[in-house]
Amino acid sequence: MAETKKLYIKTYGCQMNVYDSERMAEAMGGSGYEVTETPDDADMILLNTCHIREKAAEKVYSDLGRLKPFKSENPNLKIGVAGCVAQAEGEEIMRRQPMVDIVVGPQSYHRLPEMEAKAQAGEKALDTDFPEEDKFEKLKLRPKAKRAPAAFLTVQEGCDKFCAFCVVPYTRGAEVSRPVDRILTEARDLVERGVREITLLGQNVNAYHGAGPSGDMTLAQLIWQLDKVDGLERIRFTTSHPNDMMDDLIEAHGTCSKLMPYLHLPVQSGSNKILKRMNRSHDRDSYLRLIERIREARPDILLSGDFIVGFPEETEEDFQDTMSLIQEVQYGQAYSFKYSSRPGTPAAERALVDEAAATDRLHRLQALITQQQRDIQNSMVGRDVSVMFEKPGRFDDQMVGKSEYLHAVHVAGSGAKVGDIAKVRIVESGTNSLKGECI
Ligand code: SAH
Ligand code: SF4
Ligand code: F3S
Repeated sequence: MAETKKLYIKTYGCQMNVYDSERMAEAMGGSGYEVTETPDDADMILLNTCHIREKAAEKVYSDLGRLKPFKSENPNLKIGVAGCVAQAEGEEIMRRQPMVDIVVGPQSYHRLPEMEAKAQAGEKALDTDFPEEDKFEKLKLRPKAKRAPAAFLTVQEGCDKFCAFCVVPYTRGAEVSRPVDRILTEARDLVERGVREITLLGQNVNAYHGAGPSGDMTLAQLIWQLDKVDGLERIRFTTSHPNDMMDDLIEAHGTCSKLMPYLHLPVQSGSNKILKRMNRSHDRDSYLRLIERIREARPDILLSGDFIVGFPEETEEDFQDTMSLIQEVQYGQAYSFKYSSRPGTPAAERALVDEAAATDRLHRLQALITQQQRDIQNSMVGRDVSVMFEKPGRFDDQMVGKSEYLHAVHVAGSGAKVGDIAKVRIVESGTNSLKGECI
């Protein structure tokens, strides 16, 4: 038998990259590679990169610089760059870092084994095509190994929305949905291997329209299909666009008991002027009305969002509109970013707002969000939630899991095992997690 080689993958960016890294590791299994947790003894190092903000993209180059000594110590080491920086910068990466052997864009991962063989033959391998074939179909099925109880499953890729600030439509291409039967097969396979919660992933997951047995299915219809999978107990999905929040999906939040009461629904700004300049194609009021309808369907739903501050032309008044929108919604979770100008996007042509003002706005927004997160977390005390245990805690008899609202919950002395789902009464709220007792 051929000697096993070691593959080290570092993943940056979003959950879709986490999923892709798993699938690439599996595909490389067919070429004799096994995953290692450290770059020290690796025969191949793969950086699965993110291009969303300048800092994320630049980090890749500094990390590549840090890999130089590994390459001088082991000249046979192969270095690959995958993900959105690979797609956006292609050959430029090899120009800036000649020690890079492989550059592979997100739609070409199934070609990685061939590319590795090419690199072994001493050639450079570059592929940033958007091929017609389904990369997931060509990637090997996951080996039958046991898995952690929570898993990701990509159902949709790409974006047709072209927000003025965003690189995703360029790095991931047009919206494509995977067919229903393939998703169901993969979900059943995951369940057989111990998975009880699946998070459906897509850059615009609620724009899902995959081929079903009699025509395309919506995301809600797909969720109802997954609802029938025995052993699958919890379903989540992310990330959604407000404009694709269809009636049947809103309704499913009230009627599908496996669908968890948590929704990540980015709005980016609360100012109509800025939303327009961002090309978001929804406004403040339509977003707020949508939230109202979602809460009518599922009153206890926990909402999460993304915000950009310091977008070109944002004034203090525009920013105050964002703050008041946050006050109205009351988020249980939120991610906020200072605007980063990305080459090739429409907003990159526009004048930047003052850096210090943007930083100050980010701090104020984050303080407000933190307060809301804490308030919502504290309001859980005394309530009964359902917790799926994911790993042992720091203390002997303690387990840590996630509630239906995605809060981390620590429970001691329950005797629960990883993967168990139990009713828990929340007794205390800490900085980043809750403490509960089994009931
Ligand atoms: N498809 C998802 C999000 C993709 S990117 C959506 O539409 O919501 C994740 C988040 O990164 C975005 O929601 C946005 O808040 C942030 N982001 C994207 N481009 C950015 C940029 N140029 N500068 C700062 N933040 C950005
Ligand atoms: Fe980017 Fe907008 Fe598409 Fe989200 S919807 S991925 S922010 S272009
Ligand atoms: Fe980053 Fe690409 Fe995801 S740019 S956020 S890794 S889609």
